[in-house]
Amino acid sequence: MAVKTVKDIDLKGKRVLVRADFNVPLKEGVITDDTRIKAALPTLQYILEQEGASLVLMSHLGRPKGEPKPEFSLAPIAQRLSELLDRPVEMASDCVGSETAQMAEKLKPGEVLLLENVRYHAGETKNDAEFAKQLAKNGDVFVNDAFGTAHRAHASTEGVAHVLPSAAGFLIDKEVRFFEHLLSNPEKPFVAVIGGAKVSSKIGVLETLLDKCTTLVIGGAMSYTFLKAQGHSIGKSMIENDYIDTAKSLLERAQKAGIQVLLPLDHMAGREFDENTDPVYVDEVDLPDELIGLDIGMKTLEALKESISEANSLVWNGPMGVFEFENFAKGTLEVAEMVAACKGTTVVGGGDSVAAVNKFGFAEKIDHVSTGGGASLEFLEGKKLPGIAVLEK
Ligand code: 3PG
Repeated sequence: MAVKTVKDIDLKGKRVLVRADFNVPLKEGVITDDTRIKAALPTLQYILEQEGASLVLMSHLGRPKGEPKPEFSLAPIAQRLSELLDRPVEMASDCVGSETAQMAEKLKPGEVLLLENVRYHAGETKNDAEFAKQLAKNGDVFVNDAFGTAHRAHASTEGVAHVLPSAAGFLIDKEVRFFEHLLSNPEKPFVAVIGGAKVSSKIGVLETLLDKCTTLVIGGAMSYTFLKAQGHSIGKSMIENDYIDTAKSLLERAQKAGIQVLLPLDHMAGREFDENTDPVYVDEVDLPDELIGLDIGMKTLEALKESISEANSLVWNGPMGVFEFENFAKGTLEVAEMVAACKGTTVVGGGDSVAAVNKFGFAEKIDHVSTGGGASLEFLEGKKLPGIAVLEK
């Protein structure tokens, strides 16, 4: 899929309306992780370098459900952006309306205006055509760089692209290149490491990757449904009974296709799902009745190490255990370390695994750490993301 990028459109003297994903975590009004803001900078800086161009930025933050709520204001983002761009960032109190349009109209070359949360209006998530036209009044051309929101067909991500000449920013371009390469032309061995809580939320990803990868690693709570499908005892571990048959058929498909599947061989377990539960090492696949599997054990890690170190392509989505609990973080931490050390092309996507590589400080050593949670999952499922499809050449 070839998308038009910001380099394919003439920005000279234009007011460039950019949709970014500034949906960043905040604690008491303070940004706790500005990765997504930084990820938009190459596009923003490129636009500001174009002769006579000015910048009008829009984003959502949280889910205010169609009405203004001060806790979802983009004001903290304006401040951080101003520091990162090293210039003032003016803030409009609404994303549409005549006052906002006038502010956008008055922008001088090199000036930056940030519009208030697009989700303060119900028209945004409904992808209302009239609302998209209102947004479009704030710019001459539209650049979408909100990869994290590209799976949403909303007015600011999809609708507005029907109104203005449009292109993708560098972030979307980079995300698409990495994911498409993995899905269309991965160098083998291609190792897919899939974890997280639920099989149900990863079926699409597993089905897509089963046609592409050479080794499939299944970890996290979802692995217990697979172990149960193989007839193992899983104690009090999380289980999705409705998905045991799905797990069985996925395992059969993998076997027929000659794909190596690595499931937990041992576990770190606890009596309760609680941060302070005593960790108990279980040296075999089967868990005793009273225990909950909360992380993979060292035998499993040894097995993963061999596959991951030999991978020429690797994708990781979903943690290997409850890494938020200190005693059960080792599996995810060590996998992050192995992925960082892997010489092949490495891509990490999905909110929790990205949080893990950031928490453990390995992001710099991974070829691509996606800014998308739901968006990267849908991309890996082979779905077309509406915010990107609309930009196809
Ligand atoms: C995300 O954080 O995944 C994106 O910003 C999309 O947010 P949403 O799930 O509220 O649409």
